[in-house]
Amino acid sequence: MPAILEVDQLVKKYGDFEAVKGISFNVDEGEVFGLLGPNGAGKTQTISMLTGVIPPTSGTARIAGHDIRTEMNEAKKINGLVPQDLALYPTLSARANLNFFGRIYGLGGKDLKERVEDVLRIVALTERADEAVEKYSGGMKRRVNIAAGLLHHPRLLFLDEPTVGVDPQSRNHIFESVMRLNRERGMSIVYTSHYMEEVELLCNRVAIIDEGKIIALDTIKNLIALLGGGVIHVGLERVDDGLLERLSALPGVEEAVLMPQPAPPPLAEQEDPEVKEREPVTTTPIIKVVAVNSQQAIVNVIGFLNEQDITLTSLEILEPNLESVFLHLTGKKLRE
Ligand SMILES: Nc1ncnc2c1ncn2[C@@H]1O[C@H](COP(=O)(O)OP(=O)(O)OP(=O)(O)O)[C@@H](O)[C@H]1O
Ligand SMILES: [Mg+2]
Repeated sequence: MPAILEVDQLVKKYGDFEAVKGISFNVDEGEVFGLLGPNGAGKTQTISMLTGVIPPTSGTARIAGHDIRTEMNEAKKINGLVPQDLALYPTLSARANLNFFGRIYGLGGKDLKERVEDVLRIVALTERADEAVEKYSGGMKRRVNIAAGLLHHPRLLFLDEPTVGVDPQSRNHIFESVMRLNRERGMSIVYTSHYMEEVELLCNRVAIIDEGKIIALDTIKNLIALLGGGVIHVGLERVDDGLLERLSALPGVEEAVLMPQPAPPPLAEQEDPEVKEREPVTTTPIIKVVAVNSQQAIVNVIGFLNEQDITLTSLEILEPNLESVFLHLTGKKLRE
């Protein structure tokens, strides 16, 4: 399958700050590709460079072979952008907004009319298309935004967090539209999100992006397989010398490591008399057990701790999913 998008060492700097730190990936024709990362990871900055909203500091990309540095006009005919921020005229109806955007793309006459009706159908807004957009819910506005991005029949569509602040009904309409555009029209899609459930549902391959870098890129199945059996968090009343080594040697366990403890409150707060009156926050150590085989690991870890007379204070079994992949790779949660 030929690549419709080839991203090559893309960098975006603001003074000394590097928002995007040399990102490379390919998207195949017909693929739904996920860009998954927390707030501030660099998803919007990356997409903005690929669609000509902002220039890259260095690096480049090719869209169906067109270099974005020298052939952005050609590239723009192939890709469509549905930005994270809405850009609609609130007093105009959805149909009027779409007619307006269509004319900006140089469309007109019967062709424009047909396309407006087509994209309204795709986002399931035909029946309410003549109401002013300001009377729409957030989700419906977002669907008009998606419709606008589809008017010029892009082969490659960039969707930047299309479901943020969207009601469940609109969310489902958006998912269905994405799946239909891909399956029925063969559209390639780059879908950014910080909801791993969405990416798991819609995407073939995923790049996990954090602090301006891609930290993993693969199919969802392979990314989850990275974790092997999964991850178990075990809270203990105490951690004896050598305990981690002995847990790591148990059958089914790949490694056992102590999770970082939350930082103590700042000194000023410790001295604040009001704060002193509160219950002291007691945290027991938590051990992260990376399991090759979760079942076997749980049985062996609990058995061993019983033998050692160490009381368990908590036990959490993390179903392996993209969230646990992210946690495993970065030590952070996707959504704090
Ligand atoms: N104009 C700018 N000047 C300086 N820094 C910027 C500018 N625009 C974005 N940034 C920074 O670039 C980083 C990446 O931002 P970006 O918007 O790409 O994140 P994101 O992954 O899209 O996050 P979110 O999920 O919140 O949309 C952030 O640290 C942001 O503060
Ligand atoms: Mg963003």
